[in-house]
Amino acid sequence: MAGFSRRGFLGAVALGGAATVAGTNRVLAEATGRSGLTVRGDEFLLDGEPFRIIAGEMHYFRTHPDQWRDRLLRMRALGLNSVDTYVAWNFHEPRRGQADFSGWRDVARFVETAGEVGLKVIVRPGPYICAEWDFGGLPPWLLEDRNLPLRCSDPAYTDLTLRWFDELLPRLTPLQATKGGPLLALQVENEYGSYGNDQVHLEQLKNAMRERGVDSLLFCSNGPSDYMLRGGNLPDVLATVNFSGDPTDPLKALREYQPEGPLWCTEFWDGWFDHWGEQHHTTDPVETAGHVDKMLAAGASVSLYMATGGTNFGWWAGANYDTGNDLYQPTITSYDYDSPIGEAGELTTKFHRIREAIAKHAPVPDEPLPELPPRLAPQTVRPHETVGLLESLDVLSTPVHSAIPAHMEKFGQPYGLIHYSTRIQGPRAAAGLGISGLADRALVFSDGKYLGTLDRNTPDQTIDIAVPGSSGRLDLLVDTGGRVNFGQLLSDPKGISDRVLLGAQALHGWEVRCLPLDDLSGLRFGLRFGGGTSVGPVFHRAEISVPEPADGFLAFPGWEKGLVWLNGFLLGRYWDVGPQRTLYAPGPLWRRGGNEVLVLEMYRGGGGIEVRSEADLG
Ligand code: GLA
Repeated sequence: MAGFSRRGFLGAVALGGAATVAGTNRVLAEATGRSGLTVRGDEFLLDGEPFRIIAGEMHYFRTHPDQWRDRLLRMRALGLNSVDTYVAWNFHEPRRGQADFSGWRDVARFVETAGEVGLKVIVRPGPYICAEWDFGGLPPWLLEDRNLPLRCSDPAYTDLTLRWFDELLPRLTPLQATKGGPLLALQVENEYGSYGNDQVHLEQLKNAMRERGVDSLLFCSNGPSDYMLRGGNLPDVLATVNFSGDPTDPLKALREYQPEGPLWCTEFWDGWFDHWGEQHHTTDPVETAGHVDKMLAAGASVSLYMATGGTNFGWWAGANYDTGNDLYQPTITSYDYDSPIGEAGELTTKFHRIREAIAKHAPVPDEPLPELPPRLAPQTVRPHETVGLLESLDVLSTPVHSAIPAHMEKFGQPYGLIHYSTRIQGPRAAAGLGISGLADRALVFSDGKYLGTLDRNTPDQTIDIAVPGSSGRLDLLVDTGGRVNFGQLLSDPKGISDRVLLGAQALHGWEVRCLPLDDLSGLRFGLRFGGGTSVGPVFHRAEISVPEPADGFLAFPGWEKGLVWLNGFLLGRYWDVGPQRTLYAPGPLWRRGGNEVLVLEMYRGGGGIEVRSEADLG
């Protein structure tokens, strides 16, 4: 990195000039006595006093809002002084123009709650956030036109992001430390250098934040490689790095890139996430704590990613795409992350080791540690009613006619499954049915008979179909994983975005049914095994009675792949390929007495549904 110096920025910040930040802060300091978080030489100042950020990440969108305070208190008990969170645009605005900041989506209340428990807050508003979250936090309606340029200064994209900032930022700016609130700093984009080098885009986002009243410290966070640092930073914005393991080299890379200024690891990966069908990731608690210790000894600030991971409830899990092996890798429902505070609030061994490491460098609260929230006692129930999904299409959706089998975003559907059916003229001899542009798996039915599943990861696969009579019916039910959240293949529309071929012939004339499955109240259940057999995926209904609401874990031994709703709330996906074996069902979702569990099993319903008192993540 010889020869690359950014003295301009650092000198300016030290003088308190570059930065509109520091300039504005000075004015504010005179007005309110508060300058918020600023930079002096190699250190941070908070309202003029030396301050070191010892933070941990928690995503308000991954933890039930009734548990926010509990988890934040656990973070404080760990010895953290701040919480970092992303803002997931799609969580607020899954449908264009209908931004929602109520209830679970009240990000301002999350920031305030953190302030109430004594934590400072760092917000990473994206608009792209990565985070193993569907489409990296971008809303699915951006994919109506799948060629929309993403994460760059093309106005077609930027204009939409600025409109989002118009909605979001006014809710956050009153909470800034410069106004007496807990919000210390905001991030510009996310690891931008891993994706592109459009400095104009970063500049636009930065200016948009400033113009909308953000007068706090801004930073860019990137991986520590040269190209990442160079493509993902701005000259007058603090650079920070993200990494796992020994901090020596990454901090050195940051120091070479930015010769002066506080060192801050904005994502220290203390664990990792899992894909379906792969091994569960864990990291060694002692080693991890050792790296935190080393980082603090080096005088650096740190944000643990994650302090408490939480859950990818609903359809929110993202996915990766391994371009080397041409492999789509959907992320599991749990986002436990092997973080120090577990998905259900557990204070893990890693919690204790990291707390000891922090205690060597900063005071940790001298209070009894929070106890584990109560757990449900184990029990097994059997579903008592079922109804087939294909028989329920009329109560779940209204058909739309389309010449081509387009992707769900084209039909205005944000999340869910999608069903396509057509008629094929016969008689005709058997030919291979294949799909191009499939995301992610299509269950194929010919005249109501299940023939098999086509999978995005085996794109050359076909299923033979013959039409013996004058006409045959073809049904395709597309099952979806999360949208890709990282890398160049970010545009990942769901359903069928290209064509269905029978032999060499493209099939046209489709009846398309969007299945967001957000209202299941119309399902007409019948007694289980009460006559007639359902073809294909089946909804199963069970009742689970509990004496008092408490945390539980649902397991589906003998079941294959599907979705689970608890009292109408979609907990997420299960799949027997593992590694995850249980789904976290947080206490606030349960009711005293009877609770309704609905399972949509795509293939093979098992016998019982188990409530367990311990998680099994594989
Ligand atoms: C990067 C991203 C995060 C997350 C982690 C991996 O650092 O910035 O959003 O995806 O990788 O968990």
